[in-house]
Amino acid sequence: MNRVSTKDVMNRVSTTLNIELSILKSLTSNPQLSTDKPHAAVVEVENLVYAYSQQEPVLQEISFTLKKGDRVALMGATGSGKSTLLENLIGLKQPQTGKIIINGIPVEPQTLPQVRRQIGFSFQDANDQLFMPTILEDITFGPRNYGISPAEASDRARQLLADFGLEAYANRSAHELSGGQRRLAALASILALEPTILILDEPTNGLDPAWRRHLAQVLLKLPVEAILIASHDLHWLGRVTKRALVLSGGRIQIDSDIQPLLQDGTTLDQLGLPIDW
Ligand SMILES: Nc1ncnc2c1ncn2[C@@H]1O[C@H](COP(=O)(O)OP(=O)(O)O)[C@@H](O)[C@H]1O
Ligand SMILES: [Mg+2]
Repeated sequence: MNRVSTKDVMNRVSTTLNIELSILKSLTSNPQLSTDKPHAAVVEVENLVYAYSQQEPVLQEISFTLKKGDRVALMGATGSGKSTLLENLIGLKQPQTGKIIINGIPVEPQTLPQVRRQIGFSFQDANDQLFMPTILEDITFGPRNYGISPAEASDRARQLLADFGLEAYANRSAHELSGGQRRLAALASILALEPTILILDEPTNGLDPAWRRHLAQVLLKLPVEAILIASHDLHWLGRVTKRALVLSGGRIQIDSDIQPLLQDGTTLDQLGLPIDW
């Protein structure tokens, strides 16, 4: 049975906290995240190999670079390793071999606080992101811990709740929300920290077409350096991203502009991604 252990939940909570806390810190004290290098590498992955314990590698020889301004889709059939790769990028999992470099900093246990202060990461399961008694507290949690005044943190949170149609739910707990509403609340808690790199795992899960459109509009307006989005929502990805990485057989089989790829139903089908299903 696929049960999540308490330790796993605590790990995820602590990761979320670290990420959220560290991002805000970066916004107030990290001027090296400059805007003066338009083509600088923001995320570099070189020859990454990752295997779950006692198993064959699920990711092999993964190499790619995200540059400033990139909006990239991470595609691949269910089980192709998208979530595993994203969790490697934020240091939640450690590759067996290979390098990950975020804004010039190699991802290693001792650099994790530095690395995570640059990244806004949303888990595939929004429940992993929401742990406070109310949604409002979930969204103010990170800013409050970085010294933003209660009034300002609350104003920012209420604006985000309004943006995501959740004003009426501010004082409810996550388990009283629908799956789609939890997804939006989790995204609000990340955006409250105004991250410079955004990594989202299946952000449209549970959202209806109107909210998927709204989320696309929100993401397109965000002033972030790079966005990487894992999703199987191909048409939506085509509206939000410009480039696609496709995982299959543990490797990146395609790294190309997304629009021509979305026109190539045969290739997508071969990669386990039938376009209209
Ligand atoms: N905790 C785990 N232990 C062992 N194998 C895992 C674990 N999590 C995922 N896997 C396996 O790793 C592969 C990739 O999973 P995942 O990264 O979740 O894929 P995706 O996000 O593309 O659906 C799958 O075969 C999955 O069964
Ligand atoms: Mg996944």
